[in-house]
Amino acid sequence: MKKILIIHGPNLNLLGTREPEIYGKMTLREINANLNKYAKEKKISLKIVQSNSEGKIIDLIQKAKGKFDGIIINPAAYTHYSIAIYDTILAVGIPTIEVHLSNIYKREEFRRKSVIAPACVGQICGFGWRSYILGMDALIEVLEKK
Ligand code: DQA
Repeated sequence: MKKILIIHGPNLNLLGTREPEIYGKMTLREINANLNKYAKEKKISLKIVQSNSEGKIIDLIQKAKGKFDGIIINPAAYTHYSIAIYDTILAVGIPTIEVHLSNIYKREEFRRKSVIAPACVGQICGFGWRSYILGMDALIEVLEKK
């Protein structure tokens, strides 16, 4: 059974009430329930965590080495400036997919660049919470080919 770690970055704990016109009305708890259901169908062992802190996210990625086959990360605002998270993904070498609920290329100029994507297998954005499902499908395919 493949093991996947999903990391939700800062402010994603506020989903449901946070700018619903951009991020949708589903709460993180509801999204996670759907992700757990999908993982079960796909026979994937899934762990989901959310953190508002860059250091905690770095610790999670470091500790994932040897424990998880792949990572799906929504680095939220860290996407746009965390060289530290970029470095950690490269350091552990775990296949990682970056996801976003919104289409970051359709928004403010400062969101149009991800410093983390170059460390990832790929990036999926703009499909609301389903970006995570698409990310899981993509990651499963990557892990099956390995
Ligand atoms: C986000 C996009 C980021 O620019 C923003 O800072 C977020 C959420 C998304 O999922 O659309 O917090 O990562």
